[in-house]
Amino acid sequence: MRARIIGTGSAVPESVVTNDDLAKVVDTNDEWISSRSGIRERRIAREDNTTSLAIKAAKQAMEDAHMDSEALQMIVVATCTPDMFFPNTACQVQQALGAHNAVAFDLSAACSGFLFALSTVQAYINSGLYTNALIIGAETMSKVIDWKDRSTCVLFGDGAGAVVVKAEETGFIDMVLGSDGDGGHVLTCRTREMHNLLCEGEQEMDYLHMDGQPVFKFAVKKVPECVEQLLEKTGTDREAVDYYILHQANSRIIQSVAKRLHVPEEKFPMNLSTHGNTSAASIPILLDEMNRKGMFARGQKILMSGFGAGLTWGAALIEW
Ligand code: ACO
Repeated sequence: MRARIIGTGSAVPESVVTNDDLAKVVDTNDEWISSRSGIRERRIAREDNTTSLAIKAAKQAMEDAHMDSEALQMIVVATCTPDMFFPNTACQVQQALGAHNAVAFDLSAACSGFLFALSTVQAYINSGLYTNALIIGAETMSKVIDWKDRSTCVLFGDGAGAVVVKAEETGFIDMVLGSDGDGGHVLTCRTREMHNLLCEGEQEMDYLHMDGQPVFKFAVKKVPECVEQLLEKTGTDREAVDYYILHQANSRIIQSVAKRLHVPEEKFPMNLSTHGNTSAASIPILLDEMNRKGMFARGQKILMSGFGAGLTWGAALIEW
């Protein structure tokens, strides 16, 4: 059986932070940020957090799917910015929904998280163990950003996106996933320093560190590679794909991938100009926005691809 998306939802914080706003905090300007990344503004949480955004997106997706909470069997949250070590975000979503019969856990694969979660759920559905699931990508990157570091603070935003999937004859077609721990040092964020009764000194807070150019090079090489592998594996012509929905990190990365694949840029929708890079949330937020605009029709082929810290990457082909 195949996981088919039957409902979508998303939530972003109310507060909009423009490039001009950031130029008041760090030595930057709108021209640099928008020409290097395509980002013009981002949503930054004030009242919200990862859990509350996940819950809002989940409720919308459940409503869109006309799914009763009691019927939900599985909740998987992809996040690298949970609010708590435990309980996990998924259990907090379960409680908020009253989804008493669902098993709930989080999964961490940074910006590839949504695709890793989708493939995990597909494996459960294909095994026959479960017949439906709620998949959420939720992040508040703003809390792990060093707001004094102009090379990273301009790139990220907060938000959550969710999909409800159900076991059907059509839907998920196939996927390609990959990881490379050897390259992981280019994009890192430590949790807590080792600190216990045997350790001396104060605990230091760490923030996101990124070596932007290697990350850029990794993305523009790996994404076309895994997309081509997936097209070949599934015997799909690149023209037969209606939309290529890529992780929204940087418009230059997306344009480069389109060029390398010889696919028109119009098939690569983007929302990063208003949201920035929302990590695991970016693909499901974009899916939801497109769904709400009525851009999808039954039978259309959608190829999603994510890439990020780990390093991790992946691509999944689905039929709407
Ligand atoms: N404003 C103005 N100047 C800046 C800023 C800024 N916000 N940030 C950096 N600069 C300066 C640098 O200091 C540097 O100056 P120097 O030459 O005097 O040293 C100059 O601009 C050029 O910096 P580069 O790093 O060479 O800029 P580049 O063109 O490579 O673009 C960018 C940087 C946008 C970060 C690019 O490397 C990129 O997009 N990388 C991938 C980022 C990404 O997608 N990350 C997320 C992965 S997903 C995940 O898992 C979280």
